[in-house]
Amino acid sequence: MGLRIVMLGAPGAGKGTQAVQMAKEMGVPHISTGDIFRKNLREGTDLGKKVQGYLNSGALVPDELTCEIVAERLQEEDCANGYILDGFPRSVPQAEMLTDFLAKRGEKIEVAVNIDVSDDVIIERLSARRSDPETGAVFNLLFNPPPPDMADKLIQRDDDKPETVKARLETYHETTEPIIAYYDKLGVLKNVPGDDAGPDEIYRRIMAVLPQ
Ligand code: AP5
Ligand code: MG
Repeated sequence: MGLRIVMLGAPGAGKGTQAVQMAKEMGVPHISTGDIFRKNLREGTDLGKKVQGYLNSGALVPDELTCEIVAERLQEEDCANGYILDGFPRSVPQAEMLTDFLAKRGEKIEVAVNIDVSDDVIIERLSARRSDPETGAVFNLLFNPPPPDMADKLIQRDDDKPETVKARLETYHETTEPIIAYYDKLGVLKNVPGDDAGPDEIYRRIMAVLPQ
């Protein structure tokens, strides 16, 4: 039986980088609300049109809409044996909704992994993030360089511009950070220092705090 895990941390803390590895290793789905929204944006769906303004300004998509999308996703068959939630929940109401949704099914979040990274490091990392538009693979020009033959096709996320990063960090501190205390109260919080090491070492730190 896999675990139900939520990944917490500021924008750029490395939630996505770690969640991809963890999901692969554990054989469970990686569910990123940011990835779901960006895919809909690219494809020009109704959902994409609804969320575009929020993503581009670094604001949160309204709780009700976000929770609806996640609830639908969690009812799919591949979620039966656990999953890694990345970028959700992102506000106390979202966290409460998730707890209630799971309780109705006799389930709960077993672990909340908080990758703790300071604002200065975040700003440096996000300015150098690049991704492959075809596969979604994420690299970093400074810390996690792409293979040389890929350099030309990589793109920068629209919301990684410095002004938007600042807005995302503000939103994080105001609205998202309080859910660290929420999961601490539930007794499932695991803090992982994320400033001082590369992705492989952070991965080992996460593995070391997960229940066996
Ligand atoms: P989302 O896509 O979730 O963005 P985010 O939280 O801002 O997080 P990021 O994806 O920027 O960072 P990450 O922690 O995944 O870091 P990564 O692994 O890429 O959300 C985008 C938007 O969608 C939001 O602003 C909002 O509008 C909306 N949204 C999404 N979910 C929502 C919700 N629940 N409610 C409402 N709205 C929602 O790593 C960053 C970089 O650092 C990469 O280049 C990576 O290679 C590098 N890196 C990673 N680890 C290390 C390391 N240890 N050392 C050095 N470099 C590293
Ligand atoms: Mg991400």
